[in-house]
Amino acid sequence: MVRAEDLHRSYGTGPTAVHALRGTSLDIARGELVALKGRSGAGKTTLLNLVGGLDAPDRGRIVVDGADLSELGENGLLELRRDRVGFVFQSFGLIPILTAAENVGVPLRLRGADPRERDERVALLLALVGLTEHAAQRPGELSGGQQQRVALARALANRPALLIADEPTAQLDARTGLMVMELLRTVVRSEGVTALVATHDPQLLDLADRVVELNDGRIVAED
Ligand SMILES: Nc1ncnc2c1ncn2[C@@H]1O[C@H](COP(=O)(O)OP(=O)(O)OP(=O)(O)O)[C@@H](O)[C@H]1O
Ligand SMILES: [Mg+2]
Repeated sequence: MVRAEDLHRSYGTGPTAVHALRGTSLDIARGELVALKGRSGAGKTTLLNLVGGLDAPDRGRIVVDGADLSELGENGLLELRRDRVGFVFQSFGLIPILTAAENVGVPLRLRGADPRERDERVALLLALVGLTEHAAQRPGELSGGQQQRVALARALANRPALLIADEPTAQLDARTGLMVMELLRTVVRSEGVTALVATHDPQLLDLADRVVELNDGRIVAED
């Protein structure tokens, strides 16, 4: 589902350049949940952004769901991010003035989905993440764990092939974080999605099919 080959990504130039990735390679099979660990600054977010088509590498090749990202162009990348990749961020990233249901429906609106189909999919996703009763609440009226569950539902709205999550439990307490992660584990199975999740959370690492460690821009160990 994902093949990343010899990725290099630097920020800045000259002596002050930061080499965030220096030859990172990673393969992820369809349906796999891979956890990406590594200390702060190791390059995790950089790698996720490249795989999700939010940023381009200086060197190397990325294939997602059969598409070579370097060949997609701006519009192709836009479509990839809209239709084939779902993102979950540490900070949830919900739209404050929209209800939980409306937030989940945003990607479907962007794609111009039929309103009836959209409402059905939103209802199903809210049920999946256990928030049917909270559909009409805005993010500010939800707990952190509930907000992250809305964000997860939104990321799944367009049935992405790949789910990318950057420290999705970092802002949550241990118990809530575990609940969100268990939910992520469940939806990866039920929705048949492939997932790449950056995390420091040991509980979360346990739920992954595989743990990959980044150190100084390189993959150092896999188990
Ligand atoms: N936009 C940027 N401009 C300059 N340097 C950057 C930029 N983004 C990241 N870096 C640098 O690249 C390196 C890798 O950063 P990255 O955000 O990928 O690490 P991370 O593993 O996600 O860390 P954390 O666990 O703290 O989120 C760091 O040294 C960081 O300072
Ligand atoms: Mg990061």
